[in-house]
Formats: sequence, structure tokens, C-alpha cells
Amino acid sequence: MSVQDEIKRLTAPDIRARKGGEPIVSLTSYHAHTARLVDKYCDVILVGDSLGMVMHGLETTVPVTLDMMILQGLAVMRGSKHALVVVDMPFGSYEASREQAFMSAARVMKETGCGAIKVEGGRRMAETIAFLVERGVPVMGHIGLTPQSINTIGSFRAQGRSEADWAPIEDDARAVTDAGAFSVVIEAVAEPLARRLTELVAIPTIGIGGSVACDGQILVLEDMLGLSPRVPRFVKRYGDLGPSIEAAVAAYAKDVRARAFPGPEHAYPMRSKGK
Ligand code: KIV
Repeated sequence: MSVQDEIKRLTAPDIRARKGGEPIVSLTSYHAHTARLVDKYCDVILVGDSLGMVMHGLETTVPVTLDMMILQGLAVMRGSKHALVVVDMPFGSYEASREQAFMSAARVMKETGCGAIKVEGGRRMAETIAFLVERGVPVMGHIGLTPQSINTIGSFRAQGRSEADWAPIEDDARAVTDAGAFSVVIEAVAEPLARRLTELVAIPTIGIGGSVACDGQILVLEDMLGLSPRVPRFVKRYGDLGPSIEAAVAAYAKDVRARAFPGPEHAYPMRSKGK
């Protein structure tokens, strides 16, 4: 028997059971302090490979490594205690074979303690998803725009904007569902298609540039806080932290240059004699 506290985190089956129910609230987080804030309000925290672009200034997510994901996944687990934490599998860590995917996913789960992983791809990943799920790895799918494929698709363009393009994306949604994924992210697809996919599959759809009809929504935290210099059309800015951070940094720099900081209240006086 474990002597640990009762587990209070949401699990992949809890999220799976939310199909058609109260919308699933999800945001990305890559570090402990933001995880603590986000955890109060979110059902799912995604440690997305978008951390390559947001934290490291990379042009795409392609160079992100498993070690980067594990380090930030661990930080997010330390900062949160309620939400299901899902860690993205980065490009090159799962596509070669089902066995490679299992070894990478097992490493992520053992080393971070996260509750699930996410892989990009529909039909092409179905066999792998089934292999992982059968072996105890809860998998979130990701279809529509799959940013790790940027070098084959050419640009981060919305998908399914003409009805002729819908069939393969519908097949992708069916494939990840049949393979046993507990939910699926639908990124940057035409609104009616996202609605259709949500009706089509028995697992919750989590939209990012999808439709309000999806079973849940996700955004990249820094995008919705106004910290990212360029954001896609689907981002609503709920905050404008960039200017406040800059104003705080400018005030600090001014104080340091004027020797106005630190003041006596920030310095350690000597102990009075006899104490
Ligand atoms: O990496 C990420 O942040 C993601 C979201 C865009 C869903 O995959």
C-alpha cells in the first residue's frame, strides 16, 4: 500500500468522460510558477513542444528534444497538483517505430510523473497510439495543423477550408479515436470541420483554432497573456503583460543607475549587541 496522500489529480479517464459535458479548460505551461497559477483553473496543463519557440526562440518545434520536454514537464508537475499534466512528444522521439515511441513515452512518464503524453498525427500514428495505450500510456492525439510537419507542409496554414479537404482529416479523427486516444487536439481547422469532427468522434476534442463546438479549448499561455510578439488569428489576448514587464524592468534599471535601489528596507542591518 502506498503511504502517499490520496491522488487528487484529474486523470486521462476523467477527461475522456467529459465528452459532450462541461467544456475542458486547458492551457500550456512550461515552468513551476505558471503551472501553479494555471492549475487553479485548468483541467489539463499541456507541456507543449511550443516551448521551443516560446522559451528558446526557435523558428519551429522541430529542434525540441526529449530532454527539454522532460525538464519542463518535471517543473510543471512540481508546480501543479490538480490538473492532468500532458507532455508533448517532440519530433524524432516517436515516429520511427512503435517501440521507439514506447521507450520515449515511458521515459517521459517515469522521469516527470505526468499523467499522459501527446503525439501529432492521425492515421499515420494510429498503430503507435494503440501500442502505447495497450501498454499503459494514455495518449492525447493531435490532428489538423501538425506543426512538427512544417518542413513537409510548408507553412502554418489552417486546414480544411474547402470541403473537398475534409475526408482525410475526418479519417484522422476516427483513426486516433479507434486507436484508443483519450482526447484529441484539433489545431487550426475551418470552424464547420471542427464542429463536424466533434460530432463524429466519441472522445473529447480540444480546439486551438477550431470551433466553440469543441469539447474543450487550449491556448499557449504566453500567447493569451500578450507576451508573444506574433500570434495566430485564433489567439484571444486575455492580458497584455509585455508592457507591464517592460515598465517594471525600466523602473528597476532607473533605480539601480540612480542608486535608489536597494533602499534600507531591502538591506540587512547588523544585529544589535547582546542578541
Ligand atoms: O505545443 C503546443 O503548445 C501544442 C498546442 C498548440 C496544442 O501542441
